[in-house]
Amino acid sequence: MKNIIEMGRRKFMKSVGLSALVGAAGTSGSLAMGQSSSMSGKGYDFDEEFTRINSRKWEGAYNTYGRGNIDVAMGTADLDFKQVPQVVEALKKRAEYENYGYESTPDSFYEAIINWNKERYGQTIKKEWIKTSSALKPGMVSSMRGLNPVKGKVILLTPTYSGFTGAINKAGMTVEMSPMKRVNDRWTFDLDDLATRLDYETKCVVLCNPNNPSGEFWSADEMRGLGDLCIERGVTVLSDEIHCDFPNKGSKFIPYASLGEKYAETSITYRSPSKTFGHACLRVAYFFTQNEDLMNATMIGGGHEEGVNTFGIVAAETAFREGAGWIDDLNEYMNESFDYIVDYVNRPGEMPGVTFQKPDGLYLAWFDCNGLMEKVASPDQMRVFHDAMSAAGRRHSGLTRELCMQEWIARNARIHIQPGSSYGIGSEGFMRMNIGVPRALITKALDNWNAALKSLG
Ligand SMILES: Cc1ncc(COP(=O)(O)O)c(C=O)c1O
Repeated sequence: MKNIIEMGRRKFMKSVGLSALVGAAGTSGSLAMGQSSSMSGKGYDFDEEFTRINSRKWEGAYNTYGRGNIDVAMGTADLDFKQVPQVVEALKKRAEYENYGYESTPDSFYEAIINWNKERYGQTIKKEWIKTSSALKPGMVSSMRGLNPVKGKVILLTPTYSGFTGAINKAGMTVEMSPMKRVNDRWTFDLDDLATRLDYETKCVVLCNPNNPSGEFWSADEMRGLGDLCIERGVTVLSDEIHCDFPNKGSKFIPYASLGEKYAETSITYRSPSKTFGHACLRVAYFFTQNEDLMNATMIGGGHEEGVNTFGIVAAETAFREGAGWIDDLNEYMNESFDYIVDYVNRPGEMPGVTFQKPDGLYLAWFDCNGLMEKVASPDQMRVFHDAMSAAGRRHSGLTRELCMQEWIARNARIHIQPGSSYGIGSEGFMRMNIGVPRALITKALDNWNAALKSLG
């Protein structure tokens, strides 16, 4: 036993070797400015740099660019913070109970979900409306498949989460994008455009509430406008509310189904503790609808299987019961991180070509980099990267200007962020940075990026 632990420890130490250097690198330069927050939570130290094992976000960036070439990985949307302490304790306890056979999901898990949503959003959810899923997307795929068994279109309101496209394809449907419009520096639904797309082949619209990547918390009026149109055309709203627990100061999350009976009757809501508490590897998500027909379509027509992980259930239940203080404190920390970024980017002379506006919430920063296009994603530059990627045996078909920008930023600023082109029409010139990391890493990333931009002259 001791040997196994020792081997695991050695492997762990080996895998974290370089990441540890990132932490060390993060203590120099202008870092002092943003290195520690004035409010790191009541007992939770979100400033603590925590090295992750086998993180898709970090390892993915290392695999693409080389381990020694990336200082901060800010792609995949998950958190680099330590877990809610009570969750760790609960998991240890469960692990010590040495049986891992088939288990049923306890009532207490559903109660924890119900109470969480009642207390935070005043939303009433009944146990019989809830089904589980190993992650958010499998539940949504089952709904799409069940709601439209003979193929058809699913509408996305773009820019929106890139993973919806794969989910729609998996369900055997066709993706159609309804680009949102920008009003007063905010994205909002273009209902005239949407109306032209809701034809007899359309059975569902995916609403990302709040929106990844742009961070809008939709207002009741915006969602009612969308909902009324969908109801009129007999279209079900699939409301992805996975990021709902991350409001910035002054923002309020409104569950789509809470808008009124007719909206609740014609929608399915998808949520998960995977974003809220950073439980993605624990494989638990849930979805609900009060409309039995919609649930039957998902479960029977869509063939949904409720496969969840026991450890995930334990973790989710504990977090929903005892993690409110943790997420509230984390939101204060994120709110400060966003203020810090706004201040940094808008300081005269800094970050030339980049603009940034504080979103309503989430932990994703959506930078407008249109001012950089000509310099870092010119046709010539694209050719250079295309050839370099070919030579390195990397996938390069469909190289967009935003992918080119991602490549330039990785090579010159040693940070990995996501290209706007992944998020659909309307995302041109935008880049997404996951800021769910200690402030020192945000500073490191911005300092690197800023220096690279300044070197362009
Ligand atoms: C809006 C949104 N929905 C769904 C997902 C994926 O969730 P899961 O991994 O639970 O399927 C993500 C992940 O980033 C997301 O941002």
